[in-house]
Amino acid sequence: MRAIGWQDIATLAALALSLQNVSGAGTSFLNHTELLADLENPEWFEQNIPFLDLPTNQSQIQDVYYYRWETYREHLVYTGAQYGYMTSEFLQPVSYGAPYGGVNAAAGHHINEGRWLRNLQYGQDVVNYWINGPGQLNKPTTSLDNPDTSDWAHEYSFWAASSVWRQYMVTGDKAFVVGQLDNLVKQYRGWDNHFNDTLGLYWQFPVWDATEYSAASYNSSDPYHGGAGFRPTINGYQYGDARAIAEIANLAGNSTLEDEYNGRADALQRAMQARLWDSELQHFMHMARDDNPTGVLLTSRELMGFIPWMFSMPQASDIVAFEQLTDLQGFAANYGPTTLERRSQLFMYQASSCCRWDGPSWPYETAQILTAVENVLNDYPPQQYISAADYITLLQNYAATQFKNGQPYVAEAHDPDADKWIYDSEDHSEDYNHSTFVDNVIAGLIGLRAQPNDTVIVNPLAPSSWDHFALENVAYHGHNVTIMWDSSGSSYNQGQGFKVYVDGQLRSNRTTIGLLTVNVGPVVPQTINPLVNIVANGQKFPLGTTPFASFTFQTDNVWNAVDGIIWRTEIPENTRWTSYSSPNGEDSFGVDFQRPQAVSDVRLYFYYDNIGVHLPASFDLQYWTGTTWTTIPNQQVDVSSSTSNTQTTITFPTVITSKLQVVAPNPGSGNGWGLSEFEVWAPAIFELQNNNSAKLMGVENESKSNNAAIQQYEDNGTTDHLWQFIRTTGGWYKIMNQNSGLLLSVQDMSTSDSAALQQYQDSGMEDQLWRVESQGSGLFLIRNKHSGLVVGVDGESMDNSANVVQFEDTGTKDHLWSILPAVPVSELNSTLN
Ligand SMILES: *[C@@H]1O[C@H](CO)[C@@H](O)[C@H](O)[C@H]1NC(C)=O
Ligand SMILES: *[C@@H]1O[C@H](CO)[C@@H](O)[C@H](O)[C@H]1NC(C)=O
Ligand SMILES: *[C@@H]1O[C@H](CO)[C@@H](O)[C@H](O)[C@H]1NC(C)=O
Ligand SMILES: *[C@@H]1O[C@H](CO)[C@@H](O)[C@H](O)[C@H]1NC(C)=O
Ligand SMILES: *[C@@H]1O[C@H](CO)[C@@H](O)[C@H](O)[C@H]1NC(C)=O
Ligand SMILES: *[C@@H]1O[C@H](CO)[C@@H](O)[C@H](O)[C@H]1NC(C)=O
Ligand SMILES: *[C@@H]1O[C@H](CO)[C@@H](O)[C@H](O)[C@H]1NC(C)=O
Ligand SMILES: *[C@@H]1O[C@H](CO)[C@@H](O)[C@H](O)[C@H]1NC(C)=O
Ligand SMILES: *[C@@H]1O[C@H](CO)[C@@H](O)[C@H](O)[C@H]1NC(C)=O
Ligand SMILES: *[C@@H]1O[C@H](CO)[C@@H](O)[C@H](O)[C@H]1NC(C)=O
Ligand SMILES: *[C@@H]1O[C@H](CO)[C@@H](O)[C@H](O)[C@H]1NC(C)=O
Ligand SMILES: *[C@@H]1O[C@H](CO)[C@@H](O)[C@H](O)[C@H]1NC(C)=O
Repeated sequence: MRAIGWQDIATLAALALSLQNVSGAGTSFLNHTELLADLENPEWFEQNIPFLDLPTNQSQIQDVYYYRWETYREHLVYTGAQYGYMTSEFLQPVSYGAPYGGVNAAAGHHINEGRWLRNLQYGQDVVNYWINGPGQLNKPTTSLDNPDTSDWAHEYSFWAASSVWRQYMVTGDKAFVVGQLDNLVKQYRGWDNHFNDTLGLYWQFPVWDATEYSAASYNSSDPYHGGAGFRPTINGYQYGDARAIAEIANLAGNSTLEDEYNGRADALQRAMQARLWDSELQHFMHMARDDNPTGVLLTSRELMGFIPWMFSMPQASDIVAFEQLTDLQGFAANYGPTTLERRSQLFMYQASSCCRWDGPSWPYETAQILTAVENVLNDYPPQQYISAADYITLLQNYAATQFKNGQPYVAEAHDPDADKWIYDSEDHSEDYNHSTFVDNVIAGLIGLRAQPNDTVIVNPLAPSSWDHFALENVAYHGHNVTIMWDSSGSSYNQGQGFKVYVDGQLRSNRTTIGLLTVNVGPVVPQTINPLVNIVANGQKFPLGTTPFASFTFQTDNVWNAVDGIIWRTEIPENTRWTSYSSPNGEDSFGVDFQRPQAVSDVRLYFYYDNIGVHLPASFDLQYWTGTTWTTIPNQQVDVSSSTSNTQTTITFPTVITSKLQVVAPNPGSGNGWGLSEFEVWAPAIFELQNNNSAKLMGVENESKSNNAAIQQYEDNGTTDHLWQFIRTTGGWYKIMNQNSGLLLSVQDMSTSDSAALQQYQDSGMEDQLWRVESQGSGLFLIRNKHSGLVVGVDGESMDNSANVVQFEDTGTKDHLWSILPAVPVSELNSTLN
């Protein structure tokens, strides 16, 4: 080896410089501090969102843009160490939701909206939650939660594959999207029982399209659910999903699957055109499934007839339908569009009481229709029926809709003609998360059209009469993309014209607003933090972390600070713990892990309402030594903002303890302090406790060899009882023994009942892939990918050294496991030393 000379150092310096560019410094033309001034925890938004700047007279769109990011963040629910994040629809969980409270009606919206966040974990967790996590679990089949489907991801119609594909086009994460291929095919085929072979179309009940009391529903004996019909909704969704699956199959190199799904898409396209297009009304319509031998279509146009354009499905000549969007007897409305054409006799029928989809303006469909118009203006030949100017009016109306008392706001549905929300119930509808807006601004208004290759296409629908606009540091394929228009050059001081920057460098420009195609270079892979939050216990699992406090205000609750949810301070029934009205000079809030944990990273979100609850003047983070509370030594506290709900990160050399608490003084006069959330982040290392025997999964004789048997044993403190969960693609885990470094496997890759589990080096085979399935109460099935069987104990034995095997899920108790965060081997060793 030769010594390093000056020349090498110069080369290294040049390399470092170019790496800096590659790893993507952004631009800083906008004043982020000012743009985030009204948001709680501005640091989170600085790290995650693209910055938007519009002309002053477009402030409604701009204000709603930042508000919608705020609502997006508050709907991120940390479910627990097993599944990470999901997105909620209502802030409060509803009775008809999946485990941890998810409702799939708007999951397609959530994935599309969240694809623009820099940290990929949120969006990818949401996808896993639905198509390889709790969404796949069995649900009841009652009229409350859909009698025709048996899992939560099919409770409502769901454009799953197309949204996962659209997410991929922004993130560029090929391994993730290819890893979801099997799951997406399964999700697609889950609608087979809604398919009529003769007609070549899918049917759905209006209510399971998330639209109750629609015009079509009133054309049945059950106006709440509506009668089953062949609808532009589900056929559009399945078409979009078929095309997306074909694209993903192509990425995976599976041309048979690609051809199959393109064939399905082509057939759906033809069948929908032939049967659901009303050539007189020039609109896609609902066709009742039952007692309708001649295929009569509904006679009123509904807004959902535009949904096929969300996927660019219809032929070009059908675009004439869009005339109705601007027609005053059609769907046009100042706070619209309306969900039913005005000329229908059913328009606004019974709409004074909730949840009519026969006229009221629903963000859910407005967002879908904006996406449809974006596609018409980008993917189709020029036409005379809908223009970019019409799009801007629709977007402005949608922004104007999202206000209440002068402040940005979204509830369920709005009066189409008056400035008022009509379905807006206290502690239920606030910040309703059932639509997109950010996605429309980015992909439509600013025109960032994500691509499945190294390019980005930029084609704004914003008019040239606007003297400036910018969208700064969009996370795209691991790069930072900035789009800017400055007609005079005086708004951003970067010269005149329309420009696209990649990683801080000007890459393409023109004098007028218009189409630019820019090569951004290869995808820069992103790494997702493998730590998990071991405190969140929103379901109050008995063996999970339990909160406690020295005092709790009567309408607050200690559990609120460990529920994985942080809401904006203004939300009435906020999810927080506070010491308001405490008689004490100081109060404490703590978490009991119920077992020792290695702790070094605590994140606190102090609540501050500027009335009776204040940020604590000081606080002390303490751990339980077994006999006393002691201040944790060498704490590094990172806090750079003083707004409510700001993340305060406290790191310190690892402490092993079963309890932590924060102690802080009350400000006096009955005022208190509060916490929206208490988090502890740790490696994903667990003990697996059998619910039948109470024994832990371990390795025979603590062996470190390939093929050693997996057994259960009482908790004797050996490190073969520790298992690390390592995420792979498609939501599957490898489970690695911490004593041997080998993976949980099935002997001889068997697919038979009672086959023994063993440990084996990483073979890349599917018998080493597992997923966990929540069964409630903190108990999980552990299912093998290759065999489809679950982990149990041979003969339901209660004994030490009984073999752990795979078996069909027969409901016995030995198939249930608690997955309990544990102290990693490295930390065990350092405390022993
Ligand atoms: C992009 O810019 C942001 C600042 O806005 C920065 O935090 C990030 O590291 C940059 N790079 C990438 C690849 O996102
Ligand atoms: C950005 O805005 C903040 C708040 O309005 C202001 O204090 C700061 O000076 C501005 N920074 C620049 C560089 O203009
Ligand atoms: C809904 O919540 C999710 C997750 O928090 C977020 O991605 C999405 O943008 C939110 N949507 C709206 C409309 O608030
Ligand atoms: C499919 O639709 C046709 C036409 O309405 C009907 O005759 C047939 O019974 C339907 N098939 C099934 C399996 O429901
Ligand atoms: C549904 O609409 C059709 C066509 O307009 C009509 O003939 C039928 O009577 C309606 N049925 C009900 C239940 O309203
Ligand atoms: C393509 O996908 C199908 C369906 O998942 C699968 O059965 C087949 O084995 C795959 N073919 C290849 C070449 O991977
Ligand atoms: C990128 O992908 C898009 C969509 O498939 C395609 O239209 C375009 O030609 C591709 N561009 C390049 C440079 O490959
Ligand atoms: C909004 O501002 C732009 C300049 O950015 C101007 O050209 C346009 O006429 C204004 N529109 C209205 C409705 O005032
Ligand atoms: C592109 O930007 C450069 C640098 O600002 C400028 O010199 C050039 O005139 C611009 N070209 C067009 C077509 O605007
Ligand atoms: C089995 O699970 C139930 C419900 O969570 C729990 O009450 C019980 O303690 C568990 N038993 C064992 C041995 O884990
Ligand atoms: C502890 O458990 C392991 C099996 O997981 C067993 O091999 C070992 O003998 C046990 N040690 C003691 C001291 O009980
Ligand atoms: C922990 O200590 C054991 C016994 O001294 C040793 O074999 C093992 O390698 C150590 N593990 C780590 C991760 O330090």
